[in-house]
Amino acid sequence: MEDKTIKGTYIQPNSQSVIESDDPVLEILGPTSLKGEVTISGAKNSALAIMAGTLLCSDECRIRNVPSLVDVGRMKQILASLGVKITEDKDILDINAKEIGQTQAPYDLVSQLRASFFVIGPVLARLGVARVPLPGGCAIGARPVDLHVRGLQAMGAEVHIEHGIVHACVKGSRSRLKGAKIYLDYPSVGATETIMMAATLAEGETIIENAAQEPEVEDLANFCRSMGAKIRGAGTNTIIVSGVERLHSTDYPIIPDRIEAGTFLVAGAITQSPISLYPVIPEHLTPVIAKLEEIGCQVILEESKRVRIVPGALRATDIETLPYPGFPTDMQAQFMALLTLSEGNSMISETVFENRLRHVAELQRMGADIKVKGNVAVVKGVPFLSGAPVMATDLRASAALVLAGLAAQGKTVVQGLHHLDRGYENIEDKLRQLGAKLQRV
Ligand code: EPU
Repeated sequence: MEDKTIKGTYIQPNSQSVIESDDPVLEILGPTSLKGEVTISGAKNSALAIMAGTLLCSDECRIRNVPSLVDVGRMKQILASLGVKITEDKDILDINAKEIGQTQAPYDLVSQLRASFFVIGPVLARLGVARVPLPGGCAIGARPVDLHVRGLQAMGAEVHIEHGIVHACVKGSRSRLKGAKIYLDYPSVGATETIMMAATLAEGETIIENAAQEPEVEDLANFCRSMGAKIRGAGTNTIIVSGVERLHSTDYPIIPDRIEAGTFLVAGAITQSPISLYPVIPEHLTPVIAKLEEIGCQVILEESKRVRIVPGALRATDIETLPYPGFPTDMQAQFMALLTLSEGNSMISETVFENRLRHVAELQRMGADIKVKGNVAVVKGVPFLSGAPVMATDLRASAALVLAGLAAQGKTVVQGLHHLDRGYENIEDKLRQLGAKLQRV
């Protein structure tokens, strides 16, 4: 039976069920060739952490190169709910957190954006009290916040959870957190960021051991340093923060998004198209470039911030996701799409999140040959994919389906675009400018 699409209504093949939806879908006509250059936006995960970081400062902060994304919009709402004033002009945000009136972030916002939990560190450091709802699980895993909480407790906060809300407060007359030596059981990006932000205003020195080394952690540290924070070692596994009394105003540009860049590199590889990307920080792409080279593509450094992918015949490789500088979990789904068309057997192990292989079933609908056991997927390359209606299950899965659709024969219809809009700025326009045939309907 052929799949039938009527105004966002899907009749799944071999199924009685009809999924009614007013949500837009993305129709992609493949296979396609791309050419030209794509502009990479500011990093989503830096922007979200840095926006939370502005709560540390009672002067105005200007942040540049902020991507226009649904998640960034949600973070703006969270900040506004705490009493922060925000004005924006294109990719510039002016954030004034002089008068934080509220210490509690609203549940409906926090539950939609996990990263909003990160406000707990700055609010607690600044006001001595913070209340943030537990964000709960999400599409890719349970995602607890125990490491954030234990870090804050080590710095002297009293933390208890009641009715789903994390209440944190600092006892004592001066209400200031105290520096501490904190070893993280796992190099969690969010926990490192929460503790690092809280430590900037704490009394004394905080040492974070087994810290996350992701570029977004380093970007957040540089942002805090631009406000006068004393932080050393960000980007390594030991971060040392000497607390200061207050931070001052700043004007700070966010780094380019390495995951968006990686996604476009895969777009070049999967469509066998040489394309250029600008601006990027090539070192941030090291694990991604290494895998692309193993798969048979070259990535050439054209200028200090411009890279070009030169695709070749695609061959299988193995991938294990790991904390940075290992291969990023946020690129796993996109590489799986690529490996479905690479000759031979590839093994992909997802070690960071326990539920991040849900795109497998959708890629299978397009003809991919993938077997899953536990957190491992074995991908056997097939000669071609065929377009099909597919459902995005999370942000990076949605990108993987778009990539597969660019290479597949015929029409792919991607549903669940709210995932895509969380993390890719103008992806359709960017792909269309490169020559892709796609439209949102
Ligand atoms: N974890 C715990 N306890 C904690 C914190 C984390 O067990 O207190 C576990 C998580 O459940 C997970 C692992 O540690 O299994 C890694 O989580 P981490 O804290 O490092 O991730 P995060 O801070 O929640 C950020 C990004 C994610 C990215 C991960 C890993 C932001 C806003 N999000 O999440 O981005 O996948 O780091 O690099 O920075 C995405 O952009 O698509 C995305 C999911």
